[in-house]
Amino acid sequence: MATIVGSVMTSHVPSIGNAIAKNRESDPYWKPFFDGYPPVRQWLGKVKPDVAVVFYQDHGLNFFLDKMPTFAVGAAADYRNADEGWGIPTVKPFRGHPDLSWHLIESLVADEFDITMCQQMLVDHALTLPMALFWPGGGDWPVRIVPITMNHVQHPLPSPRRSYALGESVGRALASWKEDVRVLVVGTGGLSHQLDGERAGFINKPFDLMCLDALVDDPRKLTRYSALDIVREAGAQGTELMAWIAARAALPGRVAKVHSHYHVPISNTAGAVLALSNDGPLARAA
Ligand code: DHB
Ligand code: FE
Repeated sequence: MATIVGSVMTSHVPSIGNAIAKNRESDPYWKPFFDGYPPVRQWLGKVKPDVAVVFYQDHGLNFFLDKMPTFAVGAAADYRNADEGWGIPTVKPFRGHPDLSWHLIESLVADEFDITMCQQMLVDHALTLPMALFWPGGGDWPVRIVPITMNHVQHPLPSPRRSYALGESVGRALASWKEDVRVLVVGTGGLSHQLDGERAGFINKPFDLMCLDALVDDPRKLTRYSALDIVREAGAQGTELMAWIAARAALPGRVAKVHSHYHVPISNTAGAVLALSNDGPLARAA
């Protein structure tokens, strides 16, 4: 069976890519944000995952409004990034893990999740930037990936409860995987932000801090909200929180908080990172 080493959840604002490309991590604007990541990198260096299962949202690079799956799972041998128009350099391709992807797809469908399966898939900033934050240095990625997208673009959106159930199902599938690979579960997006409309710039710090706590000790609490409650509380794009909920739900048993960091704003977004280890022997060794 796979060993889930834990989870890292992080924001994925495109301008992070520009800050990295222009070496601005130490600028006064960026430092308080990038300061959140060295402890995460240190922990990843200890637990050494082989594979990252990444819950994220596609923002129009691979899927557009004409065809928008609620949940889609990549089953490709490799995944490329492409220009999304943000002016950030594209990153090196990621190696996939088709066998594990198909195992997750089989398990999810057996669990009655009607997912879309993708043997080709472009990955956007919501996947590439977290990877660049975790493993800086230009993209000799130490992990293979299984990308799982969750619609946060076209209403109706999946509910927090359904997102939680998706994560649980992925966690069960990992527990029944034949090989002893070390898996990191990643959730990207959030926290609160709204990019357009009358509430553009909306950030809800009390709600974000409540979520950061709940994700450690009581993640089911977040499943009491509807998708529209999340829009109201966290902003239209704050619904990316659903990927954090799914990632958390994939962790079996008790977790321990490795690190968390919160800084507002980065661009229009509450920048946050949360790293959780599974409270097993591996986590204790780290
Ligand atoms: C911003 C945040 C996002 O999550 C995103 O996908 C694009 C832009 C922002 O704050 O600028
Ligand atoms: Fe986003």
